[in-house]
Amino acid sequence: MKSTSNASLHTPAEVLAFRRDFPIFENKIHLANNSKGALSNAVIRAHAEYLDSWRTGGAPWHTWVGKHEELRASFAEMIGAGAHEVAICPSVSVALGSIASCLNWQQRSAVVFDDFSFPSVTYLWHAQTARGAEIRRVHPDENAEISPDAFDDVLDERVRAVSVAHVCYKNGHRMDLNAIARKAHNFGAWFIVDDYQSSGSRPLDVRQSGIDILATGTVKFMLGSPGVALLYVREGLLSELHPTLTGWFGQNNPEDFQIERHIEARDATRFQNGTPAIPAIYDSLAGIEQIKSVGLAKIAAWIDQLTAMLMDRLKEEGFVPATPVDPRKRGPQVAVRSHDMEVAVAELARRNILVTSRDGNIRIAFHYYNTPDDIEVLIDNLKQMSKLMIRR
Ligand SMILES: Cc1ncc(COP(=O)(O)O)c(C=O)c1O
Repeated sequence: MKSTSNASLHTPAEVLAFRRDFPIFENKIHLANNSKGALSNAVIRAHAEYLDSWRTGGAPWHTWVGKHEELRASFAEMIGAGAHEVAICPSVSVALGSIASCLNWQQRSAVVFDDFSFPSVTYLWHAQTARGAEIRRVHPDENAEISPDAFDDVLDERVRAVSVAHVCYKNGHRMDLNAIARKAHNFGAWFIVDDYQSSGSRPLDVRQSGIDILATGTVKFMLGSPGVALLYVREGLLSELHPTLTGWFGQNNPEDFQIERHIEARDATRFQNGTPAIPAIYDSLAGIEQIKSVGLAKIAAWIDQLTAMLMDRLKEEGFVPATPVDPRKRGPQVAVRSHDMEVAVAELARRNILVTSRDGNIRIAFHYYNTPDDIEVLIDNLKQMSKLMIRR
């Protein structure tokens, strides 16, 4: 899209080169990254490679399983884990469902989650009440933020797991993972993180962050396709976790075709189940490799500049963000209060600006391909639709 300001002067050449690999920017401004990352030529090529392998190989399962293993290793490297600690599942719900299927809730009956969790994960924990689990909740404070201290009231030796989303899907609030991990571990609880709204947008080292179990998907900032979720389980937990939701890709030897026994994998692949989504694995591996070719630290630094710039511009123009002002409490998303979020999203789409909505907000989420010009075009358009947006 044409720029309306000279803000692109400040955009590094590397960002512009990265952006050129994403054809959508020829006629649209893609800011819906927390719903779906943009499609790159690199992912188009990987998808074509999958189709070609099928066309020419017929049933090349060994090639496809090889890609599956490459993806496990690549993601493990990205989060500072070993490949033996990573499983590929079809969704975050199934990944954490496999974890839940291990638990009997007897010695430790409680699970803690907060109001910024993604509903799919909360449904899973609620469903565990039928098996004896007790739900304990953490709510935001009067500033609509959740501080690590808010977990103090619900923690004790009865808690099996503390489950949080790193970044909230509806308002972009980012949790202080290290602080919450310390609190959970003080009571011997496991720390479970849903990183879907952050993975691919900033570095995350599972060991340094005190994470015991991490689930995420490749659809958003990892630039892949639906059908792939990645599950990390700390090696030390494996001896305690034996999923009862399983399948042949969770077996010690998936090719040991027999019906007399169940021998789970020794490593985290025991959390896998049925036939993986091979096309999505090709796409997602290409997406992860594309991100890694830039580097997560560089991506995060650029996204942080963009979110800071948008927060400043919203303030200048009197729009009302729902995202914390403190940059340490923000992820790649900025949410803005709207009188009618659905109409606002449709109106922006009509103007070729792609954003999404939740909870009364329009949600703008950045990736390494976005620029200050995108922000200026967005602000210009929001000003023209001021009846739809809340203003001070
Ligand atoms: C924080 C978070 N977790 C999980 C999901 C999706 O979960 P699933 O892979 O089970 O569909 C989303 C999707 O928007 C999300 O934002």
